[in-house]
Amino acid sequence: MSTIPPTAPTGQDAPLLSVRDLAVRFDTPGGTVAAVDGVSFDLTAGRALGVVGESGSGKTVLSRVVMNLLSVSNALPIEGEVLFRGENLLEMRRKNLRKLWGDDLAMVFQDPMTSLNPTMKIGPQITEALYLHRKISKKGARDRALQLLEEVGIPEPTRRLKQFPHELSGGMRQRVTIAIALACDPVLLIADEPTTALDVTVQAQILDLLDTERTERQMGLILISHDLGVVEGRTNDVNVMYAGRVVESAPTASVFAQPRHPYTEALISSMPTITNPSHTRLSAIPGAPPPPLRRPKGCKYSPRCEYAQQRCVDEDPGLMPPTNEETNRGTACFFPPGTDRGHEALARNKAAGRTATGLDLTPAEVS
Ligand SMILES: Nc1ncnc2c1ncn2[C@@H]1O[C@H](COP(=O)(O)OP(=O)(O)OP(=O)(O)O)[C@@H](O)[C@H]1O
Ligand SMILES: [Mg+2]
Repeated sequence: MSTIPPTAPTGQDAPLLSVRDLAVRFDTPGGTVAAVDGVSFDLTAGRALGVVGESGSGKTVLSRVVMNLLSVSNALPIEGEVLFRGENLLEMRRKNLRKLWGDDLAMVFQDPMTSLNPTMKIGPQITEALYLHRKISKKGARDRALQLLEEVGIPEPTRRLKQFPHELSGGMRQRVTIAIALACDPVLLIADEPTTALDVTVQAQILDLLDTERTERQMGLILISHDLGVVEGRTNDVNVMYAGRVVESAPTASVFAQPRHPYTEALISSMPTITNPSHTRLSAIPGAPPPPLRRPKGCKYSPRCEYAQQRCVDEDPGLMPPTNEETNRGTACFFPPGTDRGHEALARNKAAGRTATGLDLTPAEVS
């Protein structure tokens, strides 16, 4: 996958999904909210893309609009394109979209209880998708449901088919939603915070399961999380979102080796590690994302950024390669961390004790 290709590739290398300048705005009493503000990316079959950002950064709106599943009355006409195998999903007729949903396109949501029907047994919930999209006998559907439950690691699948969602643990319920999503062999799966409601061990199991399914089926996967740790080691590329924008886009390994956006750098340094467990967080990001109706004119991250210069207040940076050598990645920053420009900006701010946006950088007094 090339994260910011100059032109859309064609033929065999054509991406499974190509999102171009996508913008979603909502009409609200206080004004227009730009929930997704000019997002572009490509995803090739068999690859995994992580989408990471704090609450409100636009991850869920992005995932729903990519599926053309956003049905909100106050949404203004969507701008941009979502090309799935070259066809714009945003212009596709409802009838044709319905054929794709649950078949080639599947989704796993954060809370399995809201996507499972509480009044319906597990078995029929899985076979429903099969009957809808496949010509399949009753026995064929049951066998497939059993096979799927086994595949997602549910013990005693025959018994589980006859149970209701509330009879299963949270982890098991999420496995069932994954089984449903995989029922018709999707070519693209979007998982929006699929493990947030689960404990750490179960979380790792579910993420490993998604990883295995992606590799075995050569499925494209978009893994959404507020936690960079979730996408580390499990995605090929990552888009870091802030205030509706992608602020850093790069191969995941490169992002961890050297983040090129101050926001990504701050997210990484606030990640719990063995020597810095979460309860002794050393570096939380100061401040909070700006409310959507009060985003600054220049760089949206500038009020929280240790690198911020006057240029960041005046100008809004778009995604650009951080250095001449790094043409496979993009950062929306004039002073990327780890570059000469970045080092100089940070040194200037530290010497002054404050940034151009007035963020105080004087070291906290130790009492
Ligand atoms: N129907 C709506 N009307 C107005 N604003 C909305 C609407 N839906 C979402 N938003 C706003 O769009 C922004 C993006 O929301 P979204 O749910 O995509 O964030 P998120 O990154 O998924 O957050 P979280 O991590 O909490 O799930 C938020 O500021 C949210 O308040
Ligand atoms: Mg969300």
